[in-house]
Amino acid sequence: MDYIYCANYEKTSQAAARMVAREVLKNPKAVLGLPTGSTPIGMYRYLVHLFEDGLVSFADVKSFNLDEYVGLNANHPQSYAYFMYDNFFSKIDVLPGAYDLPRGIASDINVECKRYDEKMQKMGGIDLQILGIGLNGHIGFNEPSHDMQVRTHCVDLTHDTIQANARFFNSIDEVPRHAVTMGIGNIMKSRKIILLVSGENKRDILQKTMYGAVSPEVPASILQFHSDVTVITDIKL
Ligand code: PGA
Repeated sequence: MDYIYCANYEKTSQAAARMVAREVLKNPKAVLGLPTGSTPIGMYRYLVHLFEDGLVSFADVKSFNLDEYVGLNANHPQSYAYFMYDNFFSKIDVLPGAYDLPRGIASDINVECKRYDEKMQKMGGIDLQILGIGLNGHIGFNEPSHDMQVRTHCVDLTHDTIQANARFFNSIDEVPRHAVTMGIGNIMKSRKIILLVSGENKRDILQKTMYGAVSPEVPASILQFHSDVTVITDIKL
């Protein structure tokens, strides 16, 4: 794993945005894998700046998001579809229809998972996947477990994740209990991965991810087996 240390959150966000923009300039038809959460907000902001300054275009880019809550439609302010539109898609030149997220309100979630996997495959897989990491080591919503799911699937969110995400909702009771997420196999098949980690509270999990035993108990640790991962972080290890 390559490791890029940046002095603070803003510099981490800039470094990630520059790396994404470089990939898109190299391959304007890149297929991106995109995260949500508080960590990538700065990166999206800088990517919008780069777009507004005419330095990068997303007109030919396609994207797939990592995950979505089950039961929230795209208009719900806490859905990841809404987050992506609000923070990124509405501010750049990506074409409607060029970006996709799992549909959390699909009537048959298993059919939806299959649709998502087939579409990713049809598009040739993900060129650049950007990841955040949960305090418990989850990537996407692949929670610590005794095994790893390969493909897009529905998960029961852990108590830790529900608690961590309650800050975005009026109360913990409103946090959905299930989500659809790309599997570990989808993520590992990406040609290139950026893992974006910010904040001292993630020091322990970053250490375990990079240098600990590879285990489904720390889902992000599987990234040690990927040949092109760059960790961009403001945590000095
Ligand atoms: P955060 O979430 O960026 O809000 O900390 C990251 C994640 O859970 O993947």
